[in-house]
Amino acid sequence: MLVSEGLVLEGLTKAYGKTRAVHDVSLTIPAGQFVGVIGRSGAGKSTLLRMINRLGEPTQGRVLWHGAEVTGTSGRKLRDWRRRCAMIFQQFNLVGRLDVLNNVLLGRLAYTPFWRAALKAWPLEDRSLALAALDQLDMAILAPRRADNLSGGQQQRVAICRALVQEPEIVLADEPVASLDPRNAKIVMDALQRINRHFGLTVLCNLHSLDLARTYCDRLVGMAAGRVVFDDVPAALTDRVTRELYGMEANEVIGAEVTAIPDGVGSAVASVPVDA
Ligand SMILES: Nc1ncnc2c1ncn2[C@@H]1O[C@H](COP(=O)(O)OP(=O)(O)O)[C@@H](O)[C@H]1O
Ligand SMILES: [Mg+2]
Repeated sequence: MLVSEGLVLEGLTKAYGKTRAVHDVSLTIPAGQFVGVIGRSGAGKSTLLRMINRLGEPTQGRVLWHGAEVTGTSGRKLRDWRRRCAMIFQQFNLVGRLDVLNNVLLGRLAYTPFWRAALKAWPLEDRSLALAALDQLDMAILAPRRADNLSGGQQQRVAICRALVQEPEIVLADEPVASLDPRNAKIVMDALQRINRHFGLTVLCNLHSLDLARTYCDRLVGMAAGRVVFDDVPAALTDRVTRELYGMEANEVIGAEVTAIPDGVGSAVASVPVDA
C-alpha cells in the first residue's frame, strides 16, 4: 500500500478551553478497513469523528484522504469532502414526515439542484439509485412509508441508504446502534458490514458495545481522555486493557462477571505516553 492511500490523521487535537477533547491523535487507516472506535463516555470519540467530517475544526493537526489535505478546505472542496465522507448518527436524523424514498434521496442533494429536492422532482436515475440502495438492505418494500412510522432499526437502515446514495468513500458512524435493542443493533451492524464489504467503503464506527466492536471490526482504536491508548486487532483487546479503557464502566461493556483489578497491575495502556 502506498503511504498516501487511505485516511491519515496527523496530530489531531481539539481543545475546548483548557479541556483537550482530542489530544494529538495520529492514525493511518487504509481504505476499505472497518475500524471501531471504543472508549468510555467523554473519551473524545465523537469529537474525533466530527473533525474528520469537518463538522468540528481541529485546534491542531491535519486530516488527509489519499494524500490530499481535507482540513483547511472551504467552499466546493469542503462540500465535496462532506459528500465523500458520509455521517451516520445515533438518532438517525431522518425527516419524519417524509417517506422513506424521499429521505434516501436527500443523500443525492450534492448532485442535484435544490429546487428539484424541494419539489420532490428527483431525476429518474436518482430514484433508481435510492431504490437500489433500499433493496441492498432489504428495505425496498418500505419506500412509500413515512419515516416516523418505522422502528429504530429500520430508520437507521434508511439513514445508511441515504449515506450510500451520496456515493461516499468513507462512512463515519457515531454510536449508530446505541438507541437500538440487540436484535436491531445486529441488523444495523450487518448493514454497515455489507456496505463495507460490498462497496469497499472505509467505515469508522464509534461503539459502546465491545461485543459488537469485536464481532464486526477489523481493527479497534481505544481512546481515553482524548488520546489513542489502544490500536490493534480485536483479539488483542484483553480484559485488562478493557478495564483500563473503561474503568468503572468495564463490567457493563465486558458484559460478564469481572473481578476488581488488583492494585499496581502493570498496564498495556500505560505504555502509551500519558499527558505530562
Ligand atoms: N462543544 C463542546 N464544548 C465543550 N466541551 C466539549 C464539547 N464537545 C465535547 N466536549 C468535551 O470533550 C470531551 C470529549 O467528548 P466527546 O467527543 O463527546 O466524547 P465521546 O463521544 O467519547 O463520549 C468531553 O469531556 C466533553 O465534555
Ligand atoms: Mg460520543
